[in-house]
Amino acid sequence: MAANATKHTLLPQELIRLKRDNQPLPAEEIKAFVQGIADDRISDAQIGAFTMAVFLNGMSREEVVALTTATRDSGHVMQWSDLNLPGPIVDKHSTGGVGDLVSLVLGPWVAACGAFVPMISGRGLGHTGGTLDKLESIPGYDPYPAPERFRDVVKSTGVAIIGQTGDLAPADKRIYGVRDVTATVESIPLITASILGKKLASGLDALVMDVKVGSGAFMPTPEKSRELAKSIANVATQAGTPTTALLTDMSQPLAPCAGNAVEIVETLALLRGDRPNSRIMQVTRELAAEMLIAGKLAGSREEALTKLEKALTSGAAAEVFARMVRELGGPSDFMERSEHYLAKADVIKPVHAEQAGIVQRIDTRAVGMSVVELGGGRLRNDANVDHSVGFTDIVEIGDSVDSQRPIAMVYARSEAAAERAAEQLRAAFTIGEAAASADTLLQDTFRGEAL
Ligand code: URA
Repeated sequence: MAANATKHTLLPQELIRLKRDNQPLPAEEIKAFVQGIADDRISDAQIGAFTMAVFLNGMSREEVVALTTATRDSGHVMQWSDLNLPGPIVDKHSTGGVGDLVSLVLGPWVAACGAFVPMISGRGLGHTGGTLDKLESIPGYDPYPAPERFRDVVKSTGVAIIGQTGDLAPADKRIYGVRDVTATVESIPLITASILGKKLASGLDALVMDVKVGSGAFMPTPEKSRELAKSIANVATQAGTPTTALLTDMSQPLAPCAGNAVEIVETLALLRGDRPNSRIMQVTRELAAEMLIAGKLAGSREEALTKLEKALTSGAAAEVFARMVRELGGPSDFMERSEHYLAKADVIKPVHAEQAGIVQRIDTRAVGMSVVELGGGRLRNDANVDHSVGFTDIVEIGDSVDSQRPIAMVYARSEAAAERAAEQLRAAFTIGEAAASADTLLQDTFRGEAL
């Protein structure tokens, strides 16, 4: 670190001035600035000025690549070559959604096809659910194993889904914290470098990115989602990790459930082969196929799909999930007796629409926020989540609802919480008389290109 600190020639304020004046930033200077952030030599004020200058003036592809690699290299970068693994190291990242349990199915599924997946996941953020919160519904599951244990589990099982530790991309932790309070979150170059800086620190051979579009997406418009997908695919590929980004629909919850334990229940059902053509499985299958192709485990989409089908119907994917849970401290009979282990909500009730009709639109963000308010996410970042709450049996756009068929089942701590969530859910669903259909699930594919 000290060696890096002596390399740069510009003072931080000079680098900020260059970006403020829309002048190009040399890669070496970006690297030194980011290392200064990781080492605490750069102040929060300087980070804020820099991120605002980037927000206003943007960055060239080369600058984003330099910011990404500098963020990646600001802490520990995992190495896997010494393990001589007989398959590629691949991973997937998503911009997050509601009822988005893709990672839980996808990791074990591609591992069952010969890939190795060191998946560093997050907790719920805003209205979106977090893979780690869902996994912590499983008693004993340890999302923070020691680094050597993590490597052992990836080696023996093919997949380990764990949480981020402080020494992965530490510069991003500071930059993100400052962006959050300086109105500089919504910048494609900064989002690209932040996501990829963390993701590429896990030493991947290939990455697949799921960028969401629609009412539950992180990005505010389809155009911005598209721009982010392209940016991530190209920047990661140019930074040395071949990456494909898929643009997928999040205009309604992806699975028919949202919460923590309820999403684990759904994961187990999908891994057992239930609902193979559901929207969640279609998206998961497309991402998984891209991972197998990117990791050179399949030469074509057809070959990838055949491998995936076999891994699902043979029970191999479910077995990998069970092994991962066991290796990370969960019950050894979790697959067989999950209902014995998962927390149950005190109140479970149907939520009926005020009028009969057809679901026209869903405010997916509002559905996610309702799960948060039920206790399934956090209102403060130090709060605990209630794993038992959420929704199941959520209807889709185009489905009919009436006094017999509810919009969803709510799982709550109390009658009052269930009633409040029911009101919120009713408000999130637009019911009408016209026939309605969902948006296209897979909207585009961007294969990264280096310049
Ligand atoms: N997620 C991240 O990790 N970083 C961003 O900037 C936005 C979303």
